[in-house]
Order: sequence, then C-alpha cells, then structure tokens
Amino acid sequence: MKRIGILTSGGDCQGLNASIRGVAKTLYNHYGDNVQIVGIIDGYRGLINGDAKELSRDDLSGLLTRGGTILGTSRQPFKLMRVIDEENSVDKVAAMKENYKKLKLDCLVILGGNGTQKSANMLSQEGLNVVSLPKTIDNDLWGTDMTFGFQSAVDIATQVIDCIHTTATSHGRVFIVEVMGHKVGWLTLYAGIAGGADVILIPEIPYDINSVIKTIQRRNETGKNFSILAVAEGAVSKDIAALSKKKKKQAMAEMVYPSISYKIAAEIEEATGQETRVTVPGHFQRGGSPDAYDRLICTRFGVAAANLIINKDYGKMVALKGTEIVSIPLSEVAGKLKEVPPDCEIVKAAKDLGISFGE
Ligand code: F6P
Repeated sequence: MKRIGILTSGGDCQGLNASIRGVAKTLYNHYGDNVQIVGIIDGYRGLINGDAKELSRDDLSGLLTRGGTILGTSRQPFKLMRVIDEENSVDKVAAMKENYKKLKLDCLVILGGNGTQKSANMLSQEGLNVVSLPKTIDNDLWGTDMTFGFQSAVDIATQVIDCIHTTATSHGRVFIVEVMGHKVGWLTLYAGIAGGADVILIPEIPYDINSVIKTIQRRNETGKNFSILAVAEGAVSKDIAALSKKKKKQAMAEMVYPSISYKIAAEIEEATGQETRVTVPGHFQRGGSPDAYDRLICTRFGVAAANLIINKDYGKMVALKGTEIVSIPLSEVAGKLKEVPPDCEIVKAAKDLGISFGE
C-alpha cells in the first residue's frame, strides 16, 4: 500500500482543491485500492505537529469547482523553519521528518508559492520524497510560465475594474483599484490591461506622482473626466525605490495612509482637485471557484505530479513551459522570484496603447 501525503501551504487561492483532486484521481486510477491519501492539516504546521487524517475517496470527490482548501493552510515562514521554537523547544525540521516517518509516507505532495517551495526544497534535501505544484495568485514563481490561481484572480480583479468604470464615468471621478501583489505586479498588469485601466503602477516600475497626475490632467483636457488606476499593493514611488532597503522599510512603516493607494489618491486629489476614490478588493481576489483556465491547469498539474510519484521522480515541481507541462528540480526553483521585466512585450504593448506606468 502506497501512502501519499498532501499539504497546502501559504495564502490560499482558487484551484487548490482542483489540484488535490487531479493528484488523487490519477493515483487511484493507477494504484486502485493500493494507495492511501493522507491529508496534512493546515500546511507545514500540521506536519510539524503531526496533525493529519486519512482521506477517503468520498473526501476527494466534488473538488473541481470548490474554492479554498479542504486541508486548511497556514503561513510558516521559511526563514523560521530552522529556528527552534523557544516556547516549546520544537525543532521544526526534525519534527516534520519524524512525522513523515510516523505517517509512513512514500511521498509528500506540496502545493504552494515561493516560501512553500523553499521549504519543500529543504525537506527534499533532508531526504524526504517530495513533489510540488506551483500555487499563487501572484504568478511570481520562477520556473513556470503560469501558477494556478492567477487567472481566476485576474478575472476577479478585472471584474472589479469593469464595475468601477461605470461609476467612475457617472461621477467623473478618479478611481484607484488596489490589486494584490506586494512584490510583483503580474496580477495588476494583466487585470489593468484587461479592465482598460489608464494607469498601471507595479513594484517593478517605480512611479513619479507628477507623471501620474499629468496623465489624469491630459485625459481631462481631452474631454475624459474620469480615470482608472490599477495599483499594486507594492507599488513604489521613484523616491522610495531609490532608498536603501532599511530606509525604504522605515519610510513605508511611517506612511500615515492605510496603503499606498490612499497616499496616491490624496496626492492626486490635492493636485487636480478631482474627487478620487480607492477600492480594495483584497482577499476577494483569492476567493470562490477556480475559473475554467485554472480548473484545466490544476488538473494537468495534478496529473503530472501524480506521474512523478508513480515514476519515483522526486524533488521536482511541476510547471508550465509554453503549452507543455514539465517538471523542474526544486533546487532550481527555490528562492527565485519571477518579476515583471519592465521591458517585456506585455508592458510594451500596454505602453503602445497609451497606458501610463507613471514613469
Ligand atoms: O501571495 C498571495 C497574496 O494574496 C499576495 O498577493 C498578498 O500580498 C498576500 O498574499 C496577502 O497575504 P495575507 O493573506 O496573509 O494577508
């Protein structure tokens, strides 16, 4: 009897359950009744605490469209994995290895984003059989053209911008839609273009507020009395971007606004006198059912991960390269961020269209 553990870690997103289903169905199809899927509860925390349960076929049915994760999730920062918990003196890495053994696992399937993949690589290097799937609405995982969850989040953020368009035109207002993404701007870029935003601000392209204001004023001069800005949570001004890492952190901590969008809104309102509003869809972007794209990619990723297990090809993350599903060593993925290259085709296309990046 094969025993395969599955855990979901980090921020949730659409498609976690669809991916679990893809793995489980393929394993059942291959091993029949000779496989037991073991769900690890609440991500790495469950593996550390030995919190797991054997899942039945019924538990794994009906998951294709279900949002969230049936296993629960938690954030366990990679940088703390090797730090012994002072409170209870727990050596987290030793505990995870011990529980993997106690649960008699042949392999552990890990679904997660950047931090999760680093921990997955660490466990693989510690001798556990691991395969992983690329999850995050941020699409910032190096080594894969697409992460699951991203396209569903793009759909939601785009719908928000669509709705904001109608009220912005009615009132002749400036609207900022703050899109998730502290470190990278893929989601803002895609939703901004799909939603027809006039200005897109992302962390990879620091903005000059005067340039943003000029864009709005130019639109007003040509008879467009409203403007839509898609702003990433991690958008940064040129001034702040020029600071050292420490000073940058300090400047952000001292900011009196709830987020960067509110600061930008205040600056626009002061300079133009035009009513400016902020909309923050927040965790809406991670909720609900996966869209058709994600259902398909999760299923393909799940099947590919199961095939890695069947072939005992461990220490790999499944990935999308062009139109093909491939697998890449976790050691190559771990610790690398896939940022938006400021000169990439999609940014150029947006600029050709007249979208401002506030440069
Ligand atoms: O990494 C996914 C993500 O949704 C980011 O886009 C966002 O900045 C962050 O997680 C929010 O984290 P939390 O759910 O812990 O507030």
